[in-house]
Amino acid sequence: MQIALLTLFPEALEPYLRASILGVAQEKGLVRVQTVDFRDFTRDRHRTVDDRPYGGGPGMVLKPEPVFDCVEWLEREHGPYRKILLTPDGERFRQPKAHALAKEERLLFLAGRYEGFDERLRSELAWDEVSLGDFVLSGGELAALCVIEAIARLVPGVLGHHESALRESFEQGSLDHPHYTRPPTWRGRNVPDVLKSGDHAAIERWRANEAHQRTRARRPDLLQEPQTKTA
Ligand code: ADE
Repeated sequence: MQIALLTLFPEALEPYLRASILGVAQEKGLVRVQTVDFRDFTRDRHRTVDDRPYGGGPGMVLKPEPVFDCVEWLEREHGPYRKILLTPDGERFRQPKAHALAKEERLLFLAGRYEGFDERLRSELAWDEVSLGDFVLSGGELAALCVIEAIARLVPGVLGHHESALRESFEQGSLDHPHYTRPPTWRGRNVPDVLKSGDHAAIERWRANEAHQRTRARRPDLLQEPQTKTA
């Protein structure tokens, strides 16, 4: 999988991309993340990527030309990308979308700064517009890293055991069950006996029940939604 990440701050994102599961995925040759500074595609002396909004108001708007030229260059070099724009007014990112995107050969992420994107940039290219949630970041960089990480760990071979990804929160339409490791007693708190019993059927029942209780208490909305694996 080839990922292009368009950002004005490649040097801030690269250390994280080299570390973590993304670093491992790249070392294994399963995922390649290329950061591209779209300021390099400006044509004026000041390397301008943003400008004041028509109609007035605060903040700056990302100009269409540098991003557009950057995308065109990447597609000429490598072929078509599925394009994802990080924005608080996008569709809420969820696990089924991560699965859908994990099947793509080439993904392109645009992390903007500023008050917004020129609308023509949005309409001229076919973007999946994605939001991390109902809060505002100062730019799309951290959101892009989150989405890229959620996708990369679903690429076969990236995680040690594929099963671990499929058992986590959201995969079965519920939150995850509690986990314990050694020591068996810590500060007077014990690991539940059933987990030490060796009775795998009983352990599965306990985990399913705990996951259900936790989901009902914290995220009852998940229990009402039809769950799909693709989006
Ligand atoms: N950019 C700014 N805020 C964002 C959010 N909540 N999700 C995705 N991208 C963003």
